[in-house]
Amino acid sequence: MATMTIPRHKTAIRRLAHSRPVSLALNHGFVGPEATFFDYGCGYGEDIDLLRSAGVHADGWDPYYRSNSNVCPADCVNLGYVLNVIDDVSERDTTLRLAFGLAKHVLVVAVRVDQSLSGGIDYSDGVVTNSGSFQKIYTQAEFRDYIEVTLGRKPFMAGLGIAYVFKDEAAESALLARVSRTRVRSERIDWLSQLASDPDGKALIDTTRQLGRIPLDTEFEGYERLAIRFGSRSRIERLVLGAVGSGGLAEAQLQKRNDILTYLAMLHLRGIRPPPVGSLPSEVRADIKLWWRSYTKAIDEGREFLFQLGNPEQIRAACGAAPIGKRLPTDLYVHSSSEDLLPALLRVLIFAARQVVGDVEYNIVKLSLDGRKVSFLQYQDFDQDAHPCLRHSVRVHLPTASYMIRDYSASENPPILHRKETLVDPVYPLYELFATLSEQEEALGLLSQSSIGFRQQWQQLLSEQNVEIIGHSIRNVSNDR
Ligand SMILES: C[S@@+](CC[C@H](N)C(=O)[O-])C[C@H]1O[C@@H](n2cnc3c(N)ncnc32)[C@H](O)[C@@H]1O
Repeated sequence: MATMTIPRHKTAIRRLAHSRPVSLALNHGFVGPEATFFDYGCGYGEDIDLLRSAGVHADGWDPYYRSNSNVCPADCVNLGYVLNVIDDVSERDTTLRLAFGLAKHVLVVAVRVDQSLSGGIDYSDGVVTNSGSFQKIYTQAEFRDYIEVTLGRKPFMAGLGIAYVFKDEAAESALLARVSRTRVRSERIDWLSQLASDPDGKALIDTTRQLGRIPLDTEFEGYERLAIRFGSRSRIERLVLGAVGSGGLAEAQLQKRNDILTYLAMLHLRGIRPPPVGSLPSEVRADIKLWWRSYTKAIDEGREFLFQLGNPEQIRAACGAAPIGKRLPTDLYVHSSSEDLLPALLRVLIFAARQVVGDVEYNIVKLSLDGRKVSFLQYQDFDQDAHPCLRHSVRVHLPTASYMIRDYSASENPPILHRKETLVDPVYPLYELFATLSEQEEALGLLSQSSIGFRQQWQQLLSEQNVEIIGHSIRNVSNDR
């Protein structure tokens, strides 16, 4: 094949916000005022400008746009969408090694994956696009293997086409400690603390504690005032029970135990040695002491726990024990806000699936009861639409570490959701609204029909029954309209 000179200065993109890899690195805490940042192949340098204005010590270099800058080491180095514009394979390897050499703790690498380019001429191992620039489009697996072979490190897949490569195990185990901690609890705790900081709410919680049960109307006079601020009586009662928690303390302790097991299992999954006990935060050490005779015992249990992932019966049992989610014959569906209420084993299963695709956009996670598949599903307008339509799904097949993306955004007849309340925590602000609609639909016999899982069939059924759904209300449609 004849070689040609392909201009690379056409490849940079004007950005108004952070690029996706940098915003992920910010979310994961690699970038911030405490850590230096270097953007290798920074293009116009918008990520650098935005970080500097947020007080981050950031710099960068680009052969075309910022060639006068110095190339220097930093805690976090970004190599964002650079590799895929380099047509010379050996230059690509050198660039990746050079960028990794600059990273003191972590290198963030991003490439374009799985996008089909229309038009263009085959060149090297990619194509020269209609705009005259080179693009090498990777698959996620090819990208992961390329990094592992070139740098000799197993990357952490942070998203589709986005990988973290750690310099030391400490940096990686710190990330795992952060991601193993329950996130959603904080959202739940927000709802509960809103009630606890309200004077009537506080009085209700205190009275409930004294009585050991929810007070009757005659025993508490603030129900009507609370209803204005917190919704229905039953939501208030669920919030109070959440705040008082029959075994509130025990539940919180159990959650911590699960977090530690999840963390230790994640370390095993990544092939990282658990950090010395002395380097763990004192609260974590105290929790370990409470639950295990020694740190070694905890580590052993974390390892055994991980092996359960390969056992369909254990996964089925964990799905059966899940306090949340909609169970269908072969799968369990859960809203992302309730994911952390799942048993630890199922959280590790989701983490294992993220090792394949990284962080993808989704609001419902679907786990097959045999533990072989995890799907990340994005439904449109989950809160607003009574029966949201599926927009895309990313299904991970764990035994082969492969995945499949399905895009329904242009579909005339996408799959839709029913009984949304079964997917969320009962303290979810719209739980009641969802549940009331399901009750009404059930009473009309709508939910016992087969093939209601798709939009057109569902709409046809509604029109046959002379009803329509506006917002989350169901109404009769008069025939003379
Ligand atoms: C698609 S742009 C991405 C720019 C920026 N990182 C971003 O995400 O907006 C690719 C950049 O890679 C730069 N580049 C090309 N060859 C390079 C090399 N060998 N080393 C470093 N950067 C290179 C180009 O100048 C261009 O600015």
